[in-house]
Parts: sequence; structure tokens; C-alpha cells
Amino acid sequence: MEPFRFHLFVCTQQKPEGVPSCPASGSLAVLDRLDQEIQTRGLNDNVQLTTCGCMGLCDEGPTMVVYPEGVWYRRVQPSDISEIVGTYLHDGKPVDRLVWNDAAAMHATAAEHADKFRAAMAARNKAGTLPDHLDQMIRSYMPSRCILTALELDIFTAVRDGANAEEIGTRIHANARAVGMLLNALVALGLLSKSGDVYSNRPESARFFVQSSKDNHRNGLLHIANIWHRWSTLTDAVRRGTRIPIDRDNTSECMHDFIAAMHRNAKERAQHVVKALGTMGVRRILDLGGGSGAYSVAYAKASPDVYCEILDVPEVVPLTAEYVSKAGVLPQVSVRPGDMLRDDFGSGYDIILLNAICHMFSEEQNRHIFYCARRALAPKGRLVVQDFILNPVKTGPQHAALFSLNMLVSTDAGASYSEAEYTGWMEAAGFSEVRRINLPGPSDLIVGQVK
Ligand SMILES: C[S@@+](CC[C@H](N)C(=O)[O-])C[C@H]1O[C@@H](n2cnc3c(N)ncnc32)[C@H](O)[C@@H]1O
Ligand code: FES
Repeated sequence: MEPFRFHLFVCTQQKPEGVPSCPASGSLAVLDRLDQEIQTRGLNDNVQLTTCGCMGLCDEGPTMVVYPEGVWYRRVQPSDISEIVGTYLHDGKPVDRLVWNDAAAMHATAAEHADKFRAAMAARNKAGTLPDHLDQMIRSYMPSRCILTALELDIFTAVRDGANAEEIGTRIHANARAVGMLLNALVALGLLSKSGDVYSNRPESARFFVQSSKDNHRNGLLHIANIWHRWSTLTDAVRRGTRIPIDRDNTSECMHDFIAAMHRNAKERAQHVVKALGTMGVRRILDLGGGSGAYSVAYAKASPDVYCEILDVPEVVPLTAEYVSKAGVLPQVSVRPGDMLRDDFGSGYDIILLNAICHMFSEEQNRHIFYCARRALAPKGRLVVQDFILNPVKTGPQHAALFSLNMLVSTDAGASYSEAEYTGWMEAAGFSEVRRINLPGPSDLIVGQVK
């Protein structure tokens, strides 16, 4: 028995600007509409919807093919979807006016496309042209910088219900000509739209970047704008082997953005961590470098019997206290200032959390923290590390390898580490049954138990 009655492939092959492609003709909107329509009509069990690469019919896009019949559609638009889904996927009759059934013409078009593509590749190769993917990777800081500057200037909020460059410039106290150039680039990046000389937020920008939106991420994202300045020191940091001090180091604004950024990730990940570790037998938790306290808050909410102590540096403690107080779990979560590299941890904990901590420190510092943690844990207590974990040869996953450089430019001796390194340090500190727990998302847990 076939698992699905129909399998739809919609071409979403991205091509350089100006080159005909299905996405340039609107295939992403078609895909969205198909997904909605299939859901609305309750056809999920019968229809498998998948994206695919170029099918060689780019001038006729958006292109879509439906199997097992092998019916090819061309120039499909979002307005056609209701008819295609209703007539074909529901009633089994293809929509003739969009079906391409001239097999000879299709073969000829696809063959011509393939020939042109091979000839263009061969010519570029012969001329020694830099491949597009390398060129793109090298220039990818430009879109990133545009968005970060727009966030720093709070442009998306200043756009309000729509405004021209001069009005927006006045609102953010910036030069109207330059603001106009930035706004145009943001339109090109798909973050704003422009009608006449009036700019408006696209739905995603309105939702995620505008101060008054409940899903506003701007504060957390400003941390990325801050570390941009550190990444600019990468070349010197590689030469010197450690971070290069910069003017913006440790301002209270940066600290505020940093904790907001941590909170943005932590409040989502905390549910996974609590679920992975469970609450059974857990009474006392020490949350080292707890930041916004999101993990302690999640534990306190998961069980009224759990009491958490957060230890963080004195500059962060007032921010932590504010987050914890807002979460309404104050009797169960306390906060104290301290330095986990120097201060006594206390004793009798069932769990010690090190969420996004170990990458800030050197191997020696982590070994020291693990040793102190083992002494502070009750019998059968657990030490829990959550971090981006490198593969054994340290070349991936990509985010962990790149994050290691983030630590090079931001800390004295931090880095991303591998599972073998964490396991080795835990065993050396006297933990047993050390195991990795994979979580959804980019970071995982390494958990060791006191013998
Ligand atoms: C990357 S954040 C992680 C925050 C939190 N655990 C989370 O996952 O959201 C690192 C935290 O460790 C704190 N921290 C850094 N060095 C510390 C130290 N020596 N002692 C205590 N806390 C420290 C920072 O202030 C910050 O809150
Ligand atoms: S880009 Fe879709 S068929 Fe070529």
C-alpha cells in the first residue's frame, strides 16, 4: 500500500538575482498556499508536499509535479491552488489549463536548460571565476549588517504604520538620505515594503522587530549587534590567541542585551531540560551562572518541592532577580552574587546546572568547576552541562565550530568542546555513568552522577 495517494514536488531552487527561477516567479507563496489548502481540506493523510531543486523548466515557473501520475504543472500561482487542491487532489481531475502535457517540448526545454547550464559552468570554470557559493559566503555580512543597524536604530519601530525616509530619519535622529538608502536595502532583503515613497513593515518584521509587539525579539538580538564588534577583532584574536579588549566591553547596556539574548533561548530550552532530567527526587538545585534564571524558573514551576539557588556575577544579579520576580516563583528561587571560579558552592544539591557556561572557560577552569561541583552534590546528585558539543575531530556541527570562534573573540580562554572532553573531565572529577542526552535544537546535555 502506498503511504500517500499524491506526492507533490514544488521547485524552490534559489538562483542568483535576475536569473529566471521558480522562487523568483513566486513558488514560495505557492508552497505556503498549498500547505494551507491541504490542511484546510484535511488532506494531510493523502498528500505529501515536498520542495525540490531545479527541474530545468525555470522560464515556465513556478513548476510543480504530482506523482504517481507524473502530472506537470507550470506557471502555477497562489490563486490557482484552491482549484488544484479541490479539483485534483480531492476529486482526482488534473486542472487542464495549467498542466504541461507536451512531452516533446518539455524534453527540449529541459535539455536546452541543461546544455546552457553546463556551458555556463564550463566557461566560468575556464575563466577561473569565483564560484557563487564562495562569493555569497564572503559577502553575507552585508545583509546581516543592514539588519543589525536597523535594529540598533530601532527602524522597524520608527516605521510605525508607514512613513517616508524623511519622517523615519527625524524619528530616529538620522540623516534622511542615508536612512533612505538603508530602507531601500531592507526592502530588497524582504523586511520592508515600499509603495510610492512610503515604507511599511512586512509581517515578520512587524511581529519580531517592533517594540510594541508581544513577540518582539529586538532586545535579545541587540546582543548579536554587540558581538559584531568583537567579531571584527577575529584576525587579531587569532594572531594573539585570545580576545582583544574593545571599548564596548561590559557596559551595563551590553550586559542587559546579553541577558535578554540568553533569556530568549533559555526560556524555550528550559522545558526540554526539565523533561530530560525529570523532577523525581530533586529538591535542591544550584544554577551556576543562571543568567535570567529561566532554567530555575522552569524547575520551580515544574515542581513545588524544588528549591533553586542561582549564583551569578554581582553585575548580573539585579537583572536575574528582576526576571525571577516577574516569573512569580520567588519563594522557590533565590539569587546570590558570586564567582564560580573562586567561591564555595555550598553542599547537598541534587542537581548542579551548567547551562551555556563551560564554553566561557578553559579546560583547567572547567576541570576545577567539575571538581567543586562533585563536592557540592549530594550522593547520587547530578552535574548537568548544556552546550554546543563538537564532534570528535572538532570540525562540526557548523554552529559549534563557529561558536568556538565566538568564544575566542569574547573570552580569555573559552572554546566549544567535544563530548569526549566533557566526559573525560567529569570522570576525572569523580562522576560516573556519564552520558549524553540529545535535546531538540543545537545544544545537548552531558550528565554525570556522583558515585
Ligand atoms: C552564557 S550565559 C548563560 C546564562 C544561563 N545559564 C542560560 O543558559 O541562559 C553565562 C552566565 O554566566 C555568568 N558568569 C560568567 N562568569 C561567571 C563567574 N565567574 N561566576 C558566576 N557566573 C558567571 C554570566 O554573568 C552569565 O549570566
Ligand atoms: S528553478 Fe524551478 S525549474 Fe528551474
